[in-house]
Amino acid sequence: MGSASQGVARGLESLGGLFERRGVRVEVRDLVKIYRRGKLEVQALRGVSVSFEAGTITSIMGPSGSGKTTLLNMIGGVDRPTGGSVVFGGQRLEELGDEDLDRHRLLNVGFVFQAINLVPSLTARENVELPMILAGRPPGERGERALGLLRAVGLEGRADHYPEELSGGEQQRVAIAVALANDPPVIVADEPTAELDYETAKGVVDLLAGLARRVGKTVIVTTHDPRVAVRTDRIVRLEDGRVVGEYTPLELERQAAPAPGGAADAHHTLIELVRARIASLEREIEKLEEAARRGEVPLRQAARRIAELEAAIEALRDLLASIGG
Ligand SMILES: Nc1ncnc2c1ncn2[C@@H]1O[C@H](COP(=O)(O)OP(=O)(O)O)[C@@H](O)[C@H]1O
Ligand SMILES: [Mg+2]
Repeated sequence: MGSASQGVARGLESLGGLFERRGVRVEVRDLVKIYRRGKLEVQALRGVSVSFEAGTITSIMGPSGSGKTTLLNMIGGVDRPTGGSVVFGGQRLEELGDEDLDRHRLLNVGFVFQAINLVPSLTARENVELPMILAGRPPGERGERALGLLRAVGLEGRADHYPEELSGGEQQRVAIAVALANDPPVIVADEPTAELDYETAKGVVDLLAGLARRVGKTVIVTTHDPRVAVRTDRIVRLEDGRVVGEYTPLELERQAAPAPGGAADAHHTLIELVRARIASLEREIEKLEEAARRGEVPLRQAARRIAELEAAIEALRDLLASIGG
């Protein structure tokens, strides 16, 4: 257990006044999403039913294109489903008009993305104030709340820094503070750790977990990394627009000694996931090497990134060995 993440978790507890809205239950029923491009149809979600509880962090795993981002977007009201229902704290989102759906997005859902979306010309504090300005919060409250939120995510002393002056992990923490600006009951994070090294990723996922477990928010996070997923309360596996499995981290650990039936299947799935991730990192390395050879990427930059990727592969191989893959 990292002492940094424990420190942040304690910070969250002592800052109760910042978080007055507890999480709500989000229930997704038979959700269907079809994207149409001209005559082309893509069925991104093919009847997904799954619920997310307050005080719980759930991770959604699944291959690229399995519908993870689409599902988060439907919950966040970024886009409307083709069929089915999202019941958000008792409110059916499909019953909201466009204006109310915009308001829902602004006030009820905090978004955190893989590509950290801070405004480069604003300081950390100003970035956190932005959603409050959009929500019409009085200026007097904004600055102080922004500072409080930055403190809660472990960034006291970084308030006046610009994004480029912060590390990737620090930027993602600012992004989490931005997501919390309007005290939304639900936080959705779309591969928030994909760009971070494992140690940094751990801190970020533990911070998100603290928001669920200690503050009572409903937190949903998508990830490719089983090591991130096992730090959450529950794992939902999506494939080709369908939920194909649900398990707890404890089940994953037990599967180190595979049991018959469903657990063995889940174990098998995990091993496959880890192998697929290793393969995709290896492909990324090959592409980088190729790009560096062609002079499209500076050599030093490529070397640094390749070293990171190799470290990630090594960690995944260790994980694979420990779960008997
Ligand atoms: N705006 C869009 N227009 C057309 N197709 C889309 C759009 N967004 C996603 N898709 C398709 O929907 C499927 C699910 O995508 P996505 O939800 O992004 O998956 P994931 O996040 O799991 O990678 C993919 O086949 C993707 O190509
Ligand atoms: Mg995605």
